[in-house]
Amino acid sequence: MLLAAEHDETSAEKIARHSDLLSRQLQSLREKMYPPEAQKKLKTFSSREVAGLLGVAESSLRQLSLNGEAVIPERLENGRRIYTLPQINELRRYLAEKRPADALRLDPRRRHGEKMQVLAVANFKGGSAKTTTTVHLAHYLALQGLRVLAIDLDPQASLSAMFGYQPEFDVDENQTLYAAIRYDDEERVPLSHVIRKTYFDGLDLVPGNLELMEYEHETPQAIAQGLSRGDGMFFRRMATVLKEVEDDYDVVLIDAPPQLGYLTLGALYAATGIVITVHPAMLDVSSMNQFLSMTSELLAVIEELEAA
Ligand SMILES: Nc1ncnc2c1ncn2[C@@H]1O[C@H](COP(=O)(O)OP(=O)(O)OP(=O)(O)O)[C@@H](O)[C@H]1O
Ligand SMILES: [Mg+2]
Repeated sequence: MLLAAEHDETSAEKIARHSDLLSRQLQSLREKMYPPEAQKKLKTFSSREVAGLLGVAESSLRQLSLNGEAVIPERLENGRRIYTLPQINELRRYLAEKRPADALRLDPRRRHGEKMQVLAVANFKGGSAKTTTTVHLAHYLALQGLRVLAIDLDPQASLSAMFGYQPEFDVDENQTLYAAIRYDDEERVPLSHVIRKTYFDGLDLVPGNLELMEYEHETPQAIAQGLSRGDGMFFRRMATVLKEVEDDYDVVLIDAPPQLGYLTLGALYAATGIVITVHPAMLDVSSMNQFLSMTSELLAVIEELEAA
């Protein structure tokens, strides 16, 4: 490789030097890809796309725009109207109020008495498309007008990277989910403190980075010290903090790391549904079977604890 050491460096220094260099190259790549602010931006939508998303005729959109109702879309030089996602969501609410019979289709956010859904995307097979599935599902649900919270539970932080955050630059200490579920009372923060808006209207993110690993290390100590009990029991902590933001979201998506550790267990316990991604190949299906069998055993222990 192109990296020359300036002195006799230790192995740790050498790896750190390579990592620093990679970090800087990734950062400069991002600046080139998303100028000028090095941030991702969402595209705008044509009236045809908006009509498809809302299930209304393009002519109705044109009429609304001519009447100056609801939102004022930008006009291109050729006269075509283009809409931003916030404008589309504004239109949803406006039209849902105007057409009560169609309100649920136009504005599908959950109604009073309906439960927030928590989907954990998990499997201990690495590279099985967990993060890709999470990000596409998050985009899709947000485009349908749902309020979505995506949680990056993987120290690799690929989900955060897909939202344009470079974990070692853009995510500081105590800014991941770890900050909300850690055991020490002095440092713990409310979940809302680590939630960030994204370039997608209606889609928020709790970013991840390496500090999430701390939870795997600290949980055995916390159990031994009696800090993990009641609602603060290690497998309940995620479910407990998600309740804090229950009024703000329809769906929470959790991108789990490729292992069945304490973080993944917490996600499975908090989940109302689990998505297991798998490649259609013998070894992958066999690996998934090991995952299911281990999950079943661990959940049986948790169920026993719940019943006790
Ligand atoms: N439907 C698909 N078709 C082709 N390639 C895909 C598809 N979904 C994901 N991939 C590719 O597979 C690779 C692994 O995907 P991804 O990072 O989502 O997996 P993962 O399960 O989150 O991995 P990890 O276990 O490391 O977190 C990526 O290069 C991704 O672009
Ligand atoms: Mg992943």
